[in-house]
Amino acid sequence: MTEVNVVIDGQQIKCKKGDILLRVAITNGIYIPNLCFLEEREEPYAGCRLCFVEIEGDELPKCACTIHVEDGIKVNTRGEKALRLQKTAFELIMSTHPVDCKNCGKNGICELQRIAKHLKISLKTNKYQKFLSDLPVDDSSPVFAFDPNKCVQCGRCVYLSERDGLNCISFAYRGLKRRVSAFMDAPLGTTRCSEKKELVHICPVGAFVFKDRKNK
Ligand code: SF4
Ligand code: SF4
Ligand code: FES
Repeated sequence: MTEVNVVIDGQQIKCKKGDILLRVAITNGIYIPNLCFLEEREEPYAGCRLCFVEIEGDELPKCACTIHVEDGIKVNTRGEKALRLQKTAFELIMSTHPVDCKNCGKNGICELQRIAKHLKISLKTNKYQKFLSDLPVDDSSPVFAFDPNKCVQCGRCVYLSERDGLNCISFAYRGLKRRVSAFMDAPLGTTRCSEKKELVHICPVGAFVFKDRKNK
């Protein structure tokens, strides 16, 4: 393993050459907003567009989950350009998200709440026009409930289902209608994912929640 030196927000860090910048930052206690990143994933999904950072010498900010670190790079996670892109990505996500935290099973552990706090933006931001869907909650699993209206399309559950060879969840439809669903919109309780607790753990928001916490 070749070790390299990087600087993130002024902090000197030693890490493995080629490691993913977002992982290096998080491992060293530097938070960068993210929803679709998974440490174990070989190739980043890079779908949420939240993890923008500035790298010295580069004109435009880049997504930290797509950067493999090289010796000597200097990174600013809080530069003006990066923050503007992080905020825009977040506000766009929130334009399709129903905010009802007090009735949500992920209240207190939700990544959207963490990002809002980090960026100092209200979850109820109305920078963009709201487009809320009104899809039915899938209650068919004995373990979890799935509320597609709260899904932020991070793709983590799709990855999990593929990784474990279950292949029960994928993205369906396009554009504003794009969403996560089982094949032919089957209730998840009738699929091979019906008792998959990890879906709740891997989902960063309240789309997958345990049934017994649903109304907390
Ligand atoms: S998913 Fe997060 S932001 Fe949305 S209602 Fe639940 S706790 Fe609130
Ligand atoms: S259900 Fe959760 S894990 Fe799956 S794509 Fe939506 S937000 Fe991500
Ligand atoms: S974490 Fe980098 S784009 Fe989602």
